[in-house]
Amino acid sequence: MRKLIDAIEGILTATAISGGGSTEAVNFALKKVNWKTRLIAPEPLSQPVVDAQLDAACAISGQYGSNPHMIAEAVLAVKDELRWETVYEDREDEPDMAAFSRNFSYTSLIGPDAPLRTDKIAAGLSLQGRDTYYPPHAHQAVESYWIVGGDGDWKVGIEPWFPVRPGDAIFHETGARHAMQTNAEPMLAVWLWTSHLDSDLVIVRG
Ligand SMILES: [Fe+2]
Repeated sequence: MRKLIDAIEGILTATAISGGGSTEAVNFALKKVNWKTRLIAPEPLSQPVVDAQLDAACAISGQYGSNPHMIAEAVLAVKDELRWETVYEDREDEPDMAAFSRNFSYTSLIGPDAPLRTDKIAAGLSLQGRDTYYPPHAHQAVESYWIVGGDGDWKVGIEPWFPVRPGDAIFHETGARHAMQTNAEPMLAVWLWTSHLDSDLVIVRG
């Protein structure tokens, strides 16, 4: 687990150096978190999409030695120790949300109830299974994403869809509407929230 936390700190540090939309957010995260604090092991929990597709996502993680590759290797080493959760379980009456809920899982690694405990930020991993659509949604939390393994398409606000692959970073301002679509491969990503940690996820229809 320490290796995974170190690898996430590594991708944040690389982003702080290279610039881009997430620079302010990652600098906040790097400064406000005691990254070397003792880790608390979660009670492991897996989900069907994780059992079926995590390995495949990790197998497409970019060049050996790159930050995405190091994160993917660290994920595989501790995959049985992580606590994977689901979202939108209460929306079974909406077909696209029911499908999404079955094909998406996330784990918290840093945050108020996470292995690295802090009330300043929240961060972890998300896994979106193959051929899965995450409908447009928004939240108050300022959010950064890094693609670790696999690939997909992403949409922010009214901008056109764009393809993403390992190493790509995506930034969402407060309230930015975003949607994700996977195709032939699943998509594993690191997510980071640097404000409004208690935000609700709101699906935006229309
Ligand atoms: Fe989001």
